[in-house]
Amino acid sequence: MPDVAPHGLDGRSAPAYVRVANTFRDQIVTGRLRPGEQVPPTRTVAEEMGISRWVVAQAYDQLKAEGYLIGRMGSGTVVADTPARSSVHPTQPEPQAPPSASASASEPPPPHLFDLSPALPDVTSFPRSSWRAALNRALVDVTDAELAHPDQQGAPALRHTLAGYLRRVRGMELDPDRIRITQGVRASVALICRQLREHGARRVAIEDPSWPRLAEIAAGNGLEVMGVPVDDGGVRVPDLVSGSHRVDAVFVTPTHQFPMGMPLAAGRRGTLIEWARTRGVMIVEDDYDAEFRYDRLPVGALAALAPDQVVYLGSVSKSLSPGVGVGWLATPPRFAGLLTERNPVDGLPSIIDQRALASWIEHGGYDRHLRRQRRRYQRRRDALASALTSMASKTSVTADGTSLLGTVATGMDAGLHLIRLLPEGVDEGDVVVRCRAAGAIVMGLSDCRRGPGPAGLVLGYANVPESQAQTVSQLIHNSTVSTD
Ligand SMILES: Cc1ncc(COP(=O)(O)O)c(C=O)c1O
Repeated sequence: MPDVAPHGLDGRSAPAYVRVANTFRDQIVTGRLRPGEQVPPTRTVAEEMGISRWVVAQAYDQLKAEGYLIGRMGSGTVVADTPARSSVHPTQPEPQAPPSASASASEPPPPHLFDLSPALPDVTSFPRSSWRAALNRALVDVTDAELAHPDQQGAPALRHTLAGYLRRVRGMELDPDRIRITQGVRASVALICRQLREHGARRVAIEDPSWPRLAEIAAGNGLEVMGVPVDDGGVRVPDLVSGSHRVDAVFVTPTHQFPMGMPLAAGRRGTLIEWARTRGVMIVEDDYDAEFRYDRLPVGALAALAPDQVVYLGSVSKSLSPGVGVGWLATPPRFAGLLTERNPVDGLPSIIDQRALASWIEHGGYDRHLRRQRRRYQRRRDALASALTSMASKTSVTADGTSLLGTVATGMDAGLHLIRLLPEGVDEGDVVVRCRAAGAIVMGLSDCRRGPGPAGLVLGYANVPESQAQTVSQLIHNSTVSTD
């Protein structure tokens, strides 16, 4: 196993997967990893580096795309025959030389890559023409003053528009002055964690399971992270309130628990809010995919119930594209320091993009896009869920509910992903790796978890057209039953 430095010299601030990819690329170009040699399993690297296995898998995917690695059915991931050679590499992924002809001739990469990452919307349906029109309007509207000295809290026009949008759609009464524009939920979480730490906070509570980056960001900012289990009613608030540990903030996904998918039960909402008020605990609501509801009525935002206690986070990453890089946080006056923090790690999105988003929402572009996407995603979800279910019913082994092959679990009535629990005894990590080798990027449920729990896959369906649902489901099924 190569000597993998979690914080390589080449990019302390780069995302974790970029650092891992850089380290392995170095090992390859300097000949320490030789053509045909197997790279260590993602599990081993993840354990050694103390990072999520998903991150390692992302790094391997990056290197496959660059032609340095190839996936081989049955023998894992190996170094390509004649990988692109360079002594310098970027800290951010950049287009690299394509895989050499001999590498692809000896072992072609999977013919088609299905990306079932739960965070990814279908960017092929990005509304290019209405966004272009919004950009044009932004270029007309933006003032010289904004171009010279953009408001560090975010463009007033966008904050004003978002206040109206969140009032209309999420029932929140908001003063635009209480909104701060960021580059997305990730950036908002980083900003909050940093402020918490600077004000003496020591411990935060998060849902278990939860979005893997959340714990990484909190821990990276010096906060102790406490996981609170999730059950059918969402995060187990009774465990939190009866616990003896002092926590300074609690991060929740009350509308659509990530990744399990249920809303936070009504009774728990009240208890959580009362407890937080009494103890002076900050509640952070991550409303990461609030726009997508299919079979149930919209669930109100927690921030609408407790505007005095909840810091609310959203972004356009799921609704539009993570590449646009615009998010927001709305805070009660008591946490107003979040609005004025002068030195956010990630900075502001471009003033033109902020203006364009404001204009796009005002002109009805956002509503139209969401209506179209909701229909599209609902069809894709139905197709994938039914393909998985029919595959499971043909092959299921036996019956204790959750141990049936292909059980499609909670979380399907909203969002962009579903959960497929795996049969007992099946190694989730092996299934994830086999899916990748066969051409599908999937996320393992245990990457989201801190404590023990059932094995499963978190399957984003936004990029699986109905016509491909059967193929993807077969691929996942084969990867699950394979005994390689
Ligand atoms: C629950 C959850 N919150 C936040 C994010 C990140 O959001 P953003 O792209 O706005 O940083 C993700 C996924 O990437 C997520 O799954």
